[in-house]
Amino acid sequence: MCGILAVVLANQKNNVAPELFEGAMFLQHRGQDAAGIVTCGARGRFYQCKGNGMARDVFTQSRMMNLVGNMGITHLRYPTAGSSAGSEAQPFYVNSPYGIVMSHNGNLVNSSELRKYLDETVHRHINTDSDSELLLNIFASELDKSNKSRVNNQDLFAALTSTMSTIRGAYSCVAMLAGYGVIGFRDPNGIRPLLFGERTNEDGSVDYMLASESVVLKAHGYNVFRDINPGEAVIIPKAPDANNKPEFRQVVEPKVFSPDIFEYVYFARPDSVLDGVSVYRSRIEMGNRLATKIRKSFPNHDVLGEIDVVIPVPDTSRTSALQCAVSLNVPYREGFVKNRYIGRTFIMPNQQERRSSVRRKLNAMESEFKGRNVLLVDDSIVRGTTSKEIVQMAREAGAKTVMIASCAPPIRFNHIYGIDLADTKALVGFDRTEDEIAEVIGADKVFYQDLQDLIDCCSSEKTSTFEVGVFTGQYITGPEDNYIQELEKIRAQNQRLKEVKKGLSVDACIDASDLVDVKAEVDISIHNAGDHHP
Ligand SMILES: *[C@@H]1O[C@H](CO)[C@@H](O)[C@H](O)[C@H]1NC(C)=O
Ligand SMILES: *[C@@H]1O[C@H](CO)[C@@H](O)[C@H](O)[C@H]1NC(C)=O
Repeated sequence: MCGILAVVLANQKNNVAPELFEGAMFLQHRGQDAAGIVTCGARGRFYQCKGNGMARDVFTQSRMMNLVGNMGITHLRYPTAGSSAGSEAQPFYVNSPYGIVMSHNGNLVNSSELRKYLDETVHRHINTDSDSELLLNIFASELDKSNKSRVNNQDLFAALTSTMSTIRGAYSCVAMLAGYGVIGFRDPNGIRPLLFGERTNEDGSVDYMLASESVVLKAHGYNVFRDINPGEAVIIPKAPDANNKPEFRQVVEPKVFSPDIFEYVYFARPDSVLDGVSVYRSRIEMGNRLATKIRKSFPNHDVLGEIDVVIPVPDTSRTSALQCAVSLNVPYREGFVKNRYIGRTFIMPNQQERRSSVRRKLNAMESEFKGRNVLLVDDSIVRGTTSKEIVQMAREAGAKTVMIASCAPPIRFNHIYGIDLADTKALVGFDRTEDEIAEVIGADKVFYQDLQDLIDCCSSEKTSTFEVGVFTGQYITGPEDNYIQELEKIRAQNQRLKEVKKGLSVDACIDASDLVDVKAEVDISIHNAGDHHP
């Protein structure tokens, strides 16, 4: 999962980079792995700044000074199975045809076919493991088929139609064509979010923005906005005015509208409204439904004496936990304090980490746990390693009994549309009953939200179907068994590589081919702005 953003300013004398940077700050929660901005100026040149790390570290003052132009796109990368090298920071660039850059949020599931097609049929070189590079090259090759020295909107929409018939999976994208304009599109199931908005300036001219979440649009005064529909695309011209407005087109027939329900459970900011549903409101309702279910599980539906206090696992679950406490009529307490400034750890070769990352991030307050029957509320339980550690911390702080409630149902299957959770077999929910899960994580009891309740919390007039494959194993694009195998292979390979780098590996486990084909750390496309003037 990633954050994407695009802006076109009406006044061609204004530089868009500061706004793209500010916008990145509102989307940072969607990806802290890598960040990138590409702008395009009047001469039709691209200016790029990208690299691994948080936006504030990648976009330094001196680098930003070189990003000129009135239109541009941003990307914030969430770690996914394929991409981790610096060279896989987005936006990606291709020089032919016309010069295109693209930011992609999502995951393609027929990537091995696409790779083969690009190699054998259209002869395009792919330099990374990223499916986003595949998507960009498919689009470029479809656009090339128009065989024109200059394209128009019609050609672009036609290329998108054939691109979307060639790729399968989840994709919300923003792209920029050098000297032409910005393009936005969303897959036919609408799995990942994308919104379009406009801002009217004092002189009556209009600026345009595309973004993953409504918070960015609101914060920057793009007060008229809407979701891009499944299978819809928009083209914003480089110099928009009254005679030259953005053009929308339904480029492919929409399929069953199925936003990823994980956006509501965990991913999106609470102050975002996605596909007509307030993320904050959906989380409040999750707390209500959870309380109803928990109450029912006790004799006479009475929690008195069973639960003394509700404590959230910071941060996402706070909203639901508070509402759950209110509904249960039990006190709500902040038992865990988060260490806000925790960053990376430094591990020397052959040295094991001393403290778990959970204990580095959270600290339990004894006064809130001691002698109490505690209900912890978390947004979801994935591998169970974090939950196990947290339950143990609650016990060390003196809790009498420790129960844990999850706002999401048991996660029993791989996530394949852009949230890199874990291999199916590594999920604590895989092939285990709720009691068995409680035993593994050391809790006295676990409560899980029912799937239908979760769906009800996120439904609107627009849709009451969601992508819920992690809970059911039924994926919206079909049974993607081949892709899941591929995903697990890449994860295993990345893990081995990581261990080799750390110097922790057991040599016997290393496949020589892993070491030969290492990822390029440096981007080979265009110069990073500012690299020559640090
Ligand atoms: C990818 O999947 C789609 C939908 O199943 C299919 O139509 C398309 O041909 C596939 N692409 C390739 C290159 O095999
Ligand atoms: C592409 O355009 C060029 C120049 O207009 C023309 O000579 C060529 O035949 C075209 N190729 C195809 C495949 O249409």
